[in-house]
Amino acid sequence: MNGNNVDIDWESARLANQENWEDRVPVHEEAYGLDAFDDPAHLSDVVRDDLDAMKSFLPSGSLFGLDLCHLQCHIGTDTVSLARAGATVTGVDFSPSALRAADQLAARLGIDATWVETDVLDARAAVDGDFDVVYTSIGTITWLSDLNRWAAQIVALLRPGGMFFIRDGHPALYALDENAVELTTRYSYFATGHAQQWDDDSTYVGEGRLAHTRTYEWPHPLSEILGALLRAGLRLIHFDEGRTLPWRFSDRMVEVPGGYAWPDAERDKLPCTYTIIARRD
Ligand SMILES: C[S@@+](CC[C@H](N)C(=O)[O-])C[C@H]1O[C@@H](n2cnc3c(N)ncnc32)[C@H](O)[C@@H]1O
Repeated sequence: MNGNNVDIDWESARLANQENWEDRVPVHEEAYGLDAFDDPAHLSDVVRDDLDAMKSFLPSGSLFGLDLCHLQCHIGTDTVSLARAGATVTGVDFSPSALRAADQLAARLGIDATWVETDVLDARAAVDGDFDVVYTSIGTITWLSDLNRWAAQIVALLRPGGMFFIRDGHPALYALDENAVELTTRYSYFATGHAQQWDDDSTYVGEGRLAHTRTYEWPHPLSEILGALLRAGLRLIHFDEGRTLPWRFSDRMVEVPGGYAWPDAERDKLPCTYTIIARRD
């Protein structure tokens, strides 16, 4: 059954996830609205929102002149947006098809970017140089089993004084039953020591079907996320929670400015996203 806890080693889970993400690339290239990027002023919605959240923590309020490493960059829509916002960008992902699509997008738009194929948990060894900003957003750490190893990569990629940014689905949201007729918990909020197993031949956008349907994800409570970043040596400088999501988590969600949200009467009950900004001293 979807979301069941299973015992699986990281390498097997990671391989299944990688095959699934490879299959999603052509579907997402069709469905992500890549033509909109032909307008040189266009930024992805995710990056537009994230820039608002991070600007007061950036030197001179913008990414201009900063070296930025984008972890789990997928097909590069957010990465090219970050480049348009002024950063020199390096995108990291474990999907060769995603990086090919990202490279084609950047080349078509005349944007300089470096792409690195690696597991994010090995990012420090694979990526050259160090960075003023390490960025990751929307659809990230549920794909990773070991947040201590993840946080160690981030700290090692950052220059002293550099900043880490993450916004993602809130772990309290991920504990909810996406098919229930009201807000009802179904999955673990806390880590269980197991992966959750999913079988789904669709993806969150587009109509195409996926050949590799099996994926594995790991629940990470806020205490685990923040704990991993603090233990790795980062200093928390900003924390926030949001009521809207850039994708429709449940059919009951309604379209609102900035994405999707629970119907009005439920909107204040639980957060949909969290945002963490942390600094390496
Ligand atoms: C939801 S997407 C990234 C989100 C981005 N906001 C977007 O929509 O373009 C998740 C990405 O994580 C990548 N990914 C998943 N597990 C990974 C891992 N262990 N190492 C590196 N990349 C990984 C996938 O290949 C995919 O491109």
